[in-house]
Amino acid sequence: MTTLSIIKADTGGFVGHSAVHPELLRAAEDGLRAAAGDGLLLDGKAASCGDDISLIMTHERGPDDDGIHTFAWNLFQETTAVAKRLGLYGAGQDLLSDAFSGNLRGMGPGYAELEYTERPSEPVICFLADKTEPGAWNLPLYKMFADPFNTAGLVIDSKMHGGFSFEVYDLHEEKMIVFDCPERSYDLLMYIGAPARYVVHSVRSRTLDVPCAATSTQRLSLIAGKYVGKDDPVMIVRCQSGLPAVGEVLEPFAFPYSVAGCMRGSHHAPIMPVALGQAHPARFDGPPRVVALGFQIREGNLLGPRDMFDDPSFDRAREQANVVMDYLRRHGPFEPHRLPLEDLEYTTMHTLEERLAPQWTSMARPAVPTPR
Ligand code: 13P
Ligand code: 13P
Ligand code: MG
Ligand code: MG
Ligand code: MG
Ligand code: MG
Repeated sequence: MTTLSIIKADTGGFVGHSAVHPELLRAAEDGLRAAAGDGLLLDGKAASCGDDISLIMTHERGPDDDGIHTFAWNLFQETTAVAKRLGLYGAGQDLLSDAFSGNLRGMGPGYAELEYTERPSEPVICFLADKTEPGAWNLPLYKMFADPFNTAGLVIDSKMHGGFSFEVYDLHEEKMIVFDCPERSYDLLMYIGAPARYVVHSVRSRTLDVPCAATSTQRLSLIAGKYVGKDDPVMIVRCQSGLPAVGEVLEPFAFPYSVAGCMRGSHHAPIMPVALGQAHPARFDGPPRVVALGFQIREGNLLGPRDMFDDPSFDRAREQANVVMDYLRRHGPFEPHRLPLEDLEYTTMHTLEERLAPQWTSMARPAVPTPR
């Protein structure tokens, strides 16, 4: 069995929160090369979207492995040291704890891991996003694996006709549930339509009984108890041969749907599919970006990446994202551009409420005196 792990963190931005400095990427690449040389990894590539570094790694140690997580944690300490030396913004931003003990859960860095038996041809797309949260993958995953208007294979391919099962996490209560689709797709949508709380963690083929997709599903604010930047999630999707075709996996991003994130992680804005060279959110720290890195994996070797959104067929999505951005921006501090209050609970509202509590006067009617 091979495991594909993407482990990611923001260890410092250049300039502000817009990009990763080339020296940090070089440090990440050097670390990955050394780990492949030492035999910890089969292969490893570093990539970035916005101010987040992703370590894209193949190995044979399975998900949640101490050795892999420790390696990533230590490498992010190294890139943080470079960021500090260069005075980059938010050095070590996503490393929330000093007490690392072998597993990244609750530590800040995000990770998506998928263990599988390699097929004779193994096409995989790694999606990396910046300025948004893990629920941002809910809509495209639904379209890829449950919507026949997106994925022709659900109708045409006999290996896909039996549908896919979606594993969903409740991030507020730390619970999970599995929905078999298509028959439970309405139940599924009831939950994943609320992406701030319910997040698709993985998808499996019911016919082939193999894993097809995995996402990073933490919420930094829930870990830290305050706003510490957005999660900027990653996702792995396997393609073809009874799974959605590459073009079906990319198709949902032809619509720049609205996500939570952008400036201060507190605004709805359209997600813009871009080539790596344009994955540097600048306007109002947005619009949120997504890149799609295609790999053919052969005996664990990562052949690629191919920069899949470097394609004029996504120009219209980018144009539409700019139009929607203009429209939303004109709302300034008003909803629905700004997030609803319950999603701002870890920002200013909390302290403001405490400070102003004595100034709020009750308008309840005085109690009617009870007759003696
Ligand atoms: P090709 O004929 O280019 O291989 O395309 C096959 C296919 O199924 C595309 O979705
Ligand atoms: P990042 O999570 O990408 O660092 O964004 C933080 C932010 O506040 C952007 O305005
Ligand atoms: Mg940042
Ligand atoms: Mg970021
Ligand atoms: Mg972030
Ligand atoms: Mg062909």
